[in-house]
Amino acid sequence: MNTETRTITLTVNGSPRTVTAGKSISEYLGSEQPCGGHGRCGKCKVIATGDLSPLSESEKNLLTEEELKKGFRFACLTAVLGDCSVVTLQSDAGDVKAVTDGEMPEFPLNPAFVHYGAAIDIGTTTIAAGLYDTDGTLLCEAACLNPQIAWGADVISRIEAALDGKAESLALSIRSAIDDILAVLARKASVSAEEIDGIVLTGNTVMLYLLTETDTEPLSHAPFTVHRSFGETVTADALGLSCIQPDTPVYLPPCMAAFIGADITCGILATRLCESAESALFADIGTNGEMGLWTKGKLTVCSTAAGPAFEGVGISMGMRGAPGAIDKVAVHGNQAVCHVIGDKPAVGICGSGLVDAAACLLRLGILDETGYLEEETVTLKDSVTLDQSDIRMLQLAKSAICAGMTALSASAGIQPEDVDHAIIAGGFGKYLDMGNAEYIGLIPAGLQDKIRVVGNASLTGAAMLLLSKNFRDTCYRIAGDAEILELSTDSVFVEQYMMGMMF
Ligand code: FES
Repeated sequence: MNTETRTITLTVNGSPRTVTAGKSISEYLGSEQPCGGHGRCGKCKVIATGDLSPLSESEKNLLTEEELKKGFRFACLTAVLGDCSVVTLQSDAGDVKAVTDGEMPEFPLNPAFVHYGAAIDIGTTTIAAGLYDTDGTLLCEAACLNPQIAWGADVISRIEAALDGKAESLALSIRSAIDDILAVLARKASVSAEEIDGIVLTGNTVMLYLLTETDTEPLSHAPFTVHRSFGETVTADALGLSCIQPDTPVYLPPCMAAFIGADITCGILATRLCESAESALFADIGTNGEMGLWTKGKLTVCSTAAGPAFEGVGISMGMRGAPGAIDKVAVHGNQAVCHVIGDKPAVGICGSGLVDAAACLLRLGILDETGYLEEETVTLKDSVTLDQSDIRMLQLAKSAICAGMTALSASAGIQPEDVDHAIIAGGFGKYLDMGNAEYIGLIPAGLQDKIRVVGNASLTGAAMLLLSKNFRDTCYRIAGDAEILELSTDSVFVEQYMMGMMF
């Protein structure tokens, strides 16, 4: 078939688009070409993988060996020949809105740094970071996309890519993103990056494996053995970080299981879940739906493969909660009325908008309880539409979260609505309308009034570990004492997951 007329999937920053093959990446992105697309300036660099034209002479000459390994290409000179994935690079990380705010409890300081310290949370989709001084003051924050999206939106595709010989590229790409974010933090706070002399770096287990180039093979199949669970200090040099002093200590908090990582240990630390006399459910709804239940002095944790739909990834017009994203939808009269972030035309929809939109379409009778969309595509606002495949993605994601909460509660002999408190962490939860979340079956019935939303608890926990080394013991206790609930063989989960597909 002629390349020019072939329809292929071009995934940009995790969101797939159907396009006709044959154009340059720049043409699809509509990006600026400072040198007119002649391959001279290198300003159009992206990370691209998949069916692409071979490296041009300009790219071979101007890209470093390390950049080539990371999958860098010049968008202006790289033709899209078949299915491929592109990640655009944010040099200032400014336009990626990852929630960096969390609720920091008060505690005595015992910093793990001398001048400035950085807390970093590597999410599957976004990286968020904060810079602190020795008084515990948050000097500035930064966020950027995780460039590993070029190798797949979820942890399973990243593991597969690593096993397919891309482990070094994956490690180099995340390390360079961390270097960039440290440089952005230093610039924002007007300090030298070399003065950042202590780092706590958290993330899910797969993210930490890929960062440290630990063999992911045991994470790729049952029984998903974790042969390195972290809770260790490495040097910046060992991680290949180059913008700070090589001997800077980087603490990697402990993980609990293959799919219950240091991000959850940090989140549980930050919310002080295990210090309460009352029962509490904790759920971090991101690309992975990880959750924990604290009841009768016991912590049980589990992880659901919710997928990245709530982060706007894998939805036809999905995007993160940035200007131009529909983030809220409400029914007015007999119409769905959309709110858009920033004073801009709508260009996409983020996770909270997706939940609202589904709730509104259900109320308006455009969507039925089986998830069937009456129209092929529904226009929400401007050119932003939802189609049947978006609804199917949402059904899978919302059902996984809700079934996980129900199964976790059942393992403790209670119903979800019996818990005293529910804590929702993660960027998506921050903007979620809990009424709509319950209406579409994303959270179990009876829970919404007990919910407290805490933002990026993983990053808050990392900051606590940075500001007081005393919390390390607490983390080891959380990770060591937690009981893992394996959902794939849990009969309550399997049943609830099937039932929960319905709206
Ligand atoms: S636009 Fe200058 S190298 Fe691509």
